[in-house]
Amino acid sequence: MHIVHTIEDLRQQLDGFRRPAFVPTMGNLHEGHIALVKEAKPLGDVTVSSIFVNRLQFAPHEDFDSYPRTLDADAQRLEAAGCDVVFAPREKDLYPEPQTFKVHPATDVSDILEGHFRPGFFIGVSTVVMKLFSCVFAGMPSGVAAFGKKDYQQVMVVRRLVQQFALPIEILGGETQRADDGLALSSRNSYLTPEQRQEAVQLSKALRALGDAARAAPGVPDLPALEAQALQALARRGWKPDYLTVRRRTDLLPPTGPLADVPLVVLGAAKVGNTRLIDNLEI
Ligand code: PAF
Repeated sequence: MHIVHTIEDLRQQLDGFRRPAFVPTMGNLHEGHIALVKEAKPLGDVTVSSIFVNRLQFAPHEDFDSYPRTLDADAQRLEAAGCDVVFAPREKDLYPEPQTFKVHPATDVSDILEGHFRPGFFIGVSTVVMKLFSCVFAGMPSGVAAFGKKDYQQVMVVRRLVQQFALPIEILGGETQRADDGLALSSRNSYLTPEQRQEAVQLSKALRALGDAARAAPGVPDLPALEAQALQALARRGWKPDYLTVRRRTDLLPPTGPLADVPLVVLGAAKVGNTRLIDNLEI
């Protein structure tokens, strides 16, 4: 496995290949990332992962500075998973000058849910994803890029980006990997104290309960009321919830009318202590 830091070295390593399988990450890897690498690998002729903590997608009060940087351990895990090339640019390699050209996703997908609570987040994500795609896939006839469905809205934004810019890249949405108790694996779980780690599973339980209540309600359920109850239940346990909501899978908008036959996803984001966790369940 080769570890490269510059775009030039990356392109040299990829010379002669025709279909990269790419897994972009911010490092501090867990089994969710490794599952993506393993799933993507057979779909390409070279497997690439990037490790880059992207300043553009963090608000000034967020955890950019404290985000764990664990390159050596990450590289070992990627090598064991069959990754061929790790692209770990320093900030000056990817952003040698301020990134003044940015990708602004349509507000209907990017200003709701995560985008509402983290303004500018999807501009930062879309911009770095576009840049990483251009580093990895430029000159390639095709490719595949894998993203975890724990970041459900991110996968949707990236799919639309690829579609609208007609990029010859297939997007793979990998299933969320969970700990034995049901907590979705996340790099940010490492911030949790032992007590918070025990409590953290309550987010996925709350999503499950909300999904069950929505599906069980007869006729047209009063989703805002069910969502408010779910939010209050989590808040009573000491959480600071941003949202718990039932949405259509197709566009992440609230369903209207009866729910039968509508593919739905329940999404949530909440803080336990100072750590903000997100999760979702397709129901
Ligand atoms: O999901 C992530 O880890 C990041 O948002 C991504 C896609 C690597 C872009 O920085």
